[in-house]
Amino acid sequence: MVRADTNLPSPDLANKVYVVTGANSGIGYAAAENFAGRGAALALVCRSAEKGTEALSRIRGKTNNMNINLFIADFTSLSSVARVAKEINHTYDKVHVLCNNAGGANSSRTLTKDGFETTFQANHLAGFLLTKLLLPALLNAAEDGSARVVFTSSLGHKNSPLEFDDLNLEKNFSTLRAYGRSKLMNLLTARAIHKRYGDKNVIASSFHPGAVRTPIWRKGGILATVLGILMWPFMWSIKKGSDTFIWLASSNDEDVLSANGNYFFNRKQVSISAFATDEAAEQLWRASEELVQPFLPTE
Ligand SMILES: NC(=O)c1ccc[n+]([C@@H]2O[C@H](COP(=O)([O-])OP(=O)(O)OC[C@H]3O[C@@H](n4cnc5c(N)ncnc54)[C@H](OP(=O)(O)O)[C@@H]3O)[C@@H](O)[C@H]2O)c1
Repeated sequence: MVRADTNLPSPDLANKVYVVTGANSGIGYAAAENFAGRGAALALVCRSAEKGTEALSRIRGKTNNMNINLFIADFTSLSSVARVAKEINHTYDKVHVLCNNAGGANSSRTLTKDGFETTFQANHLAGFLLTKLLLPALLNAAEDGSARVVFTSSLGHKNSPLEFDDLNLEKNFSTLRAYGRSKLMNLLTARAIHKRYGDKNVIASSFHPGAVRTPIWRKGGILATVLGILMWPFMWSIKKGSDTFIWLASSNDEDVLSANGNYFFNRKQVSISAFATDEAAEQLWRASEELVQPFLPTE
């Protein structure tokens, strides 16, 4: 395993491997910087090599932690996700914490080259595939204590139920519907991971960060941009928005250790939409497995 190499005063995450997706910006960056500052061995997963390199040097400069690696993957390409999973597995034999955080909104319905609606793939299927491919390394870490998988979901998960016969949103696409459904999928995937791997010391959870001042609001088209500008003064800082994220990924509080696949806001387990059922979680897991099948190792 890669060892942490840092002169920090209290490296409480030393010898722990943290993988953070969407790590170059917003709450992903803030969480990554926090983990590095506490001595974690850190894998930054970023879409852009340029932005990723900038984030890497900034974190190294601020924390003096040199045990950080950059991995490049565009989540609109499942082969890119599979490649990066292979690189991560080659670099670390254990992954203690996987933070599935990358995500965005899209102003119109487009298809990826894999043939999926872009929000569905980038916000859900890609993280699902990455999790499946890193599971052996997570289970390996879980043998020494506990491993964690944290999903950045959203209050937007309450927007609309899933329609399993239209995961690609061929009917009635809207930016908010696509985004909300993908965030519901993040919440449900945490539940499904708990059901499958909770008894193997894998702690899964999801959370809503609040409405946070990040660039995400500028990427969902004109309406989202205008709403983002109007709401900007009332939004939370990135520091406040990343608090529950960092807590779920690194605290040993009893509430975190017994997260049991649940959904949190402001360090509290909070209510979820009525359609976020165990049945939906199970159905989504099976449907997603089928869709990413070509990228999974053959048994
Ligand atoms: N901000 C909020 O109010 C809010 C509220 C609820 C939930 N969230 C969730 O919080 C998470 C982080 O977002 P943020 O608010 O911190 O915004 P952000 O600063 O825009 O961060 C999003 C991150 O995801 C990456 N990403 C987006 N699409 C990607 C793709 N196709 N492939 C690989 N990486 C991709 C972005 O990379 P680039 O920099 O290259 O675009 C960026 O690193 C998201 O999952 C979002 O849904 C945010």
